[in-house]
Amino acid sequence: MKIMSVVGARPNFMKIAPFIRAIEDYNNAFREDSQPVPPSRPPSGSLHHSATSPLQHILVHTGQHYDDKMSLAFFEALDIPQADINLEIGSGSHAEQVGQTMIAFEKVLREHRPDWVVVVGDVNATCACSITAKKEHVKLAHIEAGLRSRDMTMPEEVNRLVTDRLSDLLLTPDQLSSANLRAEGAAATAIHFVGNIMIDTLEHQRAKAERLEIATIVQENAIAGQKRPEASPLRQDAFALMTMHRPSNVDDAGTLTAILDFLLEEVAAEMPLVWPIHPRTQQRLQDCGLWEKVLDCPGVLLLHPLGYHELLRLNMAARVVLTDSGGLQEECCVLGTPCLTLRWNTERPVTLQEHGGASILVGNDVHKIRDAYREMLVAERAPARPELWDGRTAQRIVQALVAFEG
Ligand code: UD1
Repeated sequence: MKIMSVVGARPNFMKIAPFIRAIEDYNNAFREDSQPVPPSRPPSGSLHHSATSPLQHILVHTGQHYDDKMSLAFFEALDIPQADINLEIGSGSHAEQVGQTMIAFEKVLREHRPDWVVVVGDVNATCACSITAKKEHVKLAHIEAGLRSRDMTMPEEVNRLVTDRLSDLLLTPDQLSSANLRAEGAAATAIHFVGNIMIDTLEHQRAKAERLEIATIVQENAIAGQKRPEASPLRQDAFALMTMHRPSNVDDAGTLTAILDFLLEEVAAEMPLVWPIHPRTQQRLQDCGLWEKVLDCPGVLLLHPLGYHELLRLNMAARVVLTDSGGLQEECCVLGTPCLTLRWNTERPVTLQEHGGASILVGNDVHKIRDAYREMLVAERAPARPELWDGRTAQRIVQALVAFEG
């Protein structure tokens, strides 16, 4: 069986790493000579399979994220083999990204004719390759199916709806997502509740992250030009960790300014605010004339985008996380780090306090953020593990693909 999997942007990489490992494990279990593939990093997604491997795998990177810190660093840190094919799409408007990806991916599908295309998450690459696969009559599997924010202004919600509507195999991270798909009329036989593949990566990498020194992470990733005085080292449970990149928070100058004022005047005045900054957010701060203000604030520690282990290490030690990222909400849930989700809705309700998780939704209203922030400062670390977030999701996904009878 020939499987082509697709990644495009940063949050895809931690979802594909366990899947590729599970394919290798499956093939190893079937090798006649029972000689396992050596553990060294294979040169590419497919080259290391022998012709007799039951599962042939081809990895495609659309190139939506292209900076080393947004892409290559994750491939190396998570031992993802080099992509077999890179479509080199890069930045652009949504229509440009989706359109160019479809044109390039169609050629790839015609050349390689896989049995399956496997897509992950909800980025533009996910949606573009799903449409192309179905138009080429290739079976489609979606890892992380069924998440719904019900907010059609989010590009990710459009991507999720299109991808799920087209998928032959809907691999869901939790039972709420399976219920969403059933309510939309998806065939019960297509829906497979397999758990959260991000947690496979977290469990696989946790020990390596724990060995990192926080002081070294900060030193090696600090953005130059900050006025911050030579700081005392960050202590466990004594700093806030922040990430933000959603258009709803950073594109409107008024919203961005209000959130920033709260961060600088209230959070950073009280404890160090560690902020690894997304390229989109840095660009918006510069466009709005706010970049110097952040650089000059002594309580803010601005960092370049961090690697997987570095961010996980900081999350393990943070007193509180403020974020609009989906993946961080899930990681906070499993680590128990109190989390303020800077959004009005979430496609991941299972991570919220009312479902036993660690997050509260606070949107981008400063009064609401302030009240929840005070509440979170005194909250206990309460790790939670939703059903099947057990580190073995990728294995279940490979089994579901192999067993599929469509
Ligand atoms: C994308 C995903 C979002 C995900 C986020 C994680 C979509 C619709 N959105 O948003 O779901 O949470 O990735 O990062 O797919 N840029 C760089 N270097 C890069 C990549 C991007 O400088 O390597 C810049 C681009 O030039 C662009 C901006 O960042 O100006 C946004 O990039 P884009 O891929 O369009 O969307 P993200 O906001 O990253």
